[in-house]
Amino acid sequence: MARAKFEVKSVDELAAQPEEYRAAVRKIVLSHAVNELHGARVFDEPAIALAPTPYYKWLACRIAMEEYGHHVRFRQLGLDIGIAPEAMTPEAKRPLSIFEFPLKTWAEFCVIKLLADLGEILQVEDLSHCSFLPLRKLSRMTMPEERFHAEFGREACAELCETPAGRQAVQAAIDAYFPYLPAFFGKPRSKNNELFRKWAIKLRSNEEMRADYLRRAQALATGLGLKLPALALEA
Ligand SMILES: [Fe+2]
Ligand SMILES: [Fe+2]
Repeated sequence: MARAKFEVKSVDELAAQPEEYRAAVRKIVLSHAVNELHGARVFDEPAIALAPTPYYKWLACRIAMEEYGHHVRFRQLGLDIGIAPEAMTPEAKRPLSIFEFPLKTWAEFCVIKLLADLGEILQVEDLSHCSFLPLRKLSRMTMPEERFHAEFGREACAELCETPAGRQAVQAAIDAYFPYLPAFFGKPRSKNNELFRKWAIKLRSNEEMRADYLRRAQALATGLGLKLPALALEA
């Protein structure tokens, strides 16, 4: 069956939509605004101090700048659609559990960019077909930067893997961090996700996204000669 083409072209058009749709759009924009800020604070900005060389400090600065930039853009869209500024902070809304990992080493940061930013790529890919066009546009703008972060993660992990000690550090970081990631895609049979799909804000279910993520993460790890730990997933 062909998908009905439901599109909301602007912030002005959004105002005329049913409250259920507007609330769903606010929810997803708020989540991105909060999580981009929190990730930049707890992972990307501290990584500048952990980076081992001036070259990597420069790249870490660029990544931190871009992650803060994602927050700035999502926050602006949030303001445009009527979200209160004080609501768009990690103090007001609890960030995702993927950020609870206590970052201590450069290898861990490289693994976070390899694996967590792959998760973000999947989310942004899905949103780049979203029925609310300002959000679709914002996702498409964000995409090249998220791809750059994930590619940075892959290359930095590959470089670390050139020495036995570096390879061990990367594998240990994967073993410690990977279990945080499946929760990034939300709960199975999620009511929020059902609503997002009903309104064509998102295309895929949490279960589909998670399965695709695990497949892509597995391919990345195998490509680097590394292993993902086995996980007990909630069905
Ligand atoms: Fe980001
Ligand atoms: Fe990123």
